[in-house]
Amino acid sequence: MSHHDKGWILILGSSSGFGAACSKALAEAGFNIFGVHLDRAGAMPRINELIQEIAATGAQVKFWNKNIARDENRLEVIAGIAEVLTGKPVDFGGLNLADENNRDAALTILSDALKDHHGAIKAMLHSVAFGSLQPFVSDNLKEQTSRKQMEMTLDVMANSMVYWVQDLCRVRLLERGSKVFSMTSAGSRRAWYGYGPVSAAKAALEAHTRQLARELGPRGILVNCFEAGVTDTPAMRLIPGADVIKSEALRRNPGERLTTPEDIAATFVALMDPRVKWINGTTVRVDGGEDTL
Ligand SMILES: NC(=O)c1ccc[n+]([C@@H]2O[C@H](COP(=O)([O-])OP(=O)(O)OC[C@H]3O[C@@H](n4cnc5c(N)ncnc54)[C@H](O)[C@@H]3O)[C@@H](O)[C@H]2O)c1
Repeated sequence: MSHHDKGWILILGSSSGFGAACSKALAEAGFNIFGVHLDRAGAMPRINELIQEIAATGAQVKFWNKNIARDENRLEVIAGIAEVLTGKPVDFGGLNLADENNRDAALTILSDALKDHHGAIKAMLHSVAFGSLQPFVSDNLKEQTSRKQMEMTLDVMANSMVYWVQDLCRVRLLERGSKVFSMTSAGSRRAWYGYGPVSAAKAALEAHTRQLARELGPRGILVNCFEAGVTDTPAMRLIPGADVIKSEALRRNPGERLTTPEDIAATFVALMDPRVKWINGTTVRVDGGEDTL
């Protein structure tokens, strides 16, 4: 078996933080990497370097710069995955992928294209940070969370995970033995100024993870959350009072340091051992014990 014959990992949020560290570590561990991220053109030199680092391990790697929360983008990425796996572009026969009424037909075409690649995705990680960090209540309407911001945050950071799993199951890229992971935080059960929408998204993500685990258990697909301790990433630095959160975490953490993206990546690699097949519907805390105090 060549070093990179372990199959593919799909990372949503692959360009930074946990997603980037997991992409590198899983590639080093012998997996090939599909990644989706959403970044401005200015970030692309850094992301291209990351892609090259992944490729230097001998892994195959393909990234898409697309908003994962849009239905047509999901279909386009799955078509791109099919093209990489089969070597042939998918012919949708002019179907407008943005039209909700065409989704069933598009998924049938994708399913046919992928009929020889069931279970090609050994794991999917949902590691997307994009949400509103405004208080729920303010006398200034512009400063308080709007309905649009609340719904966008829940959609991108929680609900999108369900829609990706639905479609990947439909086309059988996720099959018996595949694993799905999402990223939660202690913030799912805490209140912190400005963190309301993200906190709600984390609580929803944990509920979605449990529910998917219940429904996919009979198919042999495992679904779990990683709960990372406070980790110094671009998304974390945007949380109001990030410095206070970090110093509090440092004070509380028995390991006397913050969590790193590599801590999650190492755990992910360990859980990809095919002998690990009985952890399901739970939250795996990777925080050095930060949440014990
Ligand atoms: N940093 C922490 O302390 C911490 C702790 C626990 C959980 N988490 C969670 O981990 C996940 C990843 O966060 P991070 O800290 O690695 O952040 P990050 O900012 O380093 O990375 C976020 C990634 O999400 C991608 N992204 C954002 N919106 C997107 C969209 N609409 N479509 C496609 N890609 C999109 C970005 O391109 C980037 O790759 C988040 O769900 C976050 O809430 C973070």
